[in-house]
Amino acid sequence: MRRAVFPGSFNPVHMGHLDIIKRAVRVFDEVVVAVYENPPGKQIIFDTHERVALLEEAVKDIPHVVVASYRGLTVDYVTAVDAFILIRGMRVFSDFEFEFRMALANQRLAPHIEMINFITGEQFIHISSSTVREIAMLGGDVSTMVPPHVNRALRERFAQLQAEDGI
Ligand code: PNS
Repeated sequence: MRRAVFPGSFNPVHMGHLDIIKRAVRVFDEVVVAVYENPPGKQIIFDTHERVALLEEAVKDIPHVVVASYRGLTVDYVTAVDAFILIRGMRVFSDFEFEFRMALANQRLAPHIEMINFITGEQFIHISSSTVREIAMLGGDVSTMVPPHVNRALRERFAQLQAEDGI
C-alpha cells in the first residue's frame, strides 16, 4: 500500500488544504493528514484536538484519508507510520523557498523520504490559514475559503475571544 503523509499546522483547515488532499488521494492509496501539535511562533486559535476534529469533519466524504496528530520531527512521524512519502501543497512562487528549504532539510535528516509537492488549484491560491485567521478575526467573510463548520467554529472562537479580551 502506498501511504503518503500530508503534514501541516491546519490552523485552521481551509479549501486549499482540501484541494491538495483530493489531488493526493488520486495518486496514493492512503493519505495521512498529520496535524503538527505545537508549531513554533504561530498564533494557534484551535488546540490540537480541535484542529483534528475540524479536519475529520472536512474530509469525512473523501475516502482513504486518515487524520492524526504528531509532535517532533515530521520525518520521524512519516517513518513511524510506515510511509516514505511526504506531501505538501504549493500555491504561489513565494511558497517555493520555504518548501524547498524544508525539502532539503528533510532530505538531509532522512534521505529515504521523498517530498512531493502538489500545485494548488488556481481558485485557491489566495487562501492561507493566516489570511483566514486575520479576516475572521476582523469580522470578515471567509465562507468561500473554509468549509461551513470551520466558518462557524471561527466565528464562535473570535466571539469568545472578543468577549474575554475585548479584541
Ligand atoms: O502548515 P505549516 O505550518 O506550513 O506546516 C509546517 C510543518 C509543521 C509541516 C513544518 O514546520 C514541520 O515539518 N515541522 C515539524 C518539525 C520538523 O520536522 N522540522 C524540520 C523540517 S523544516
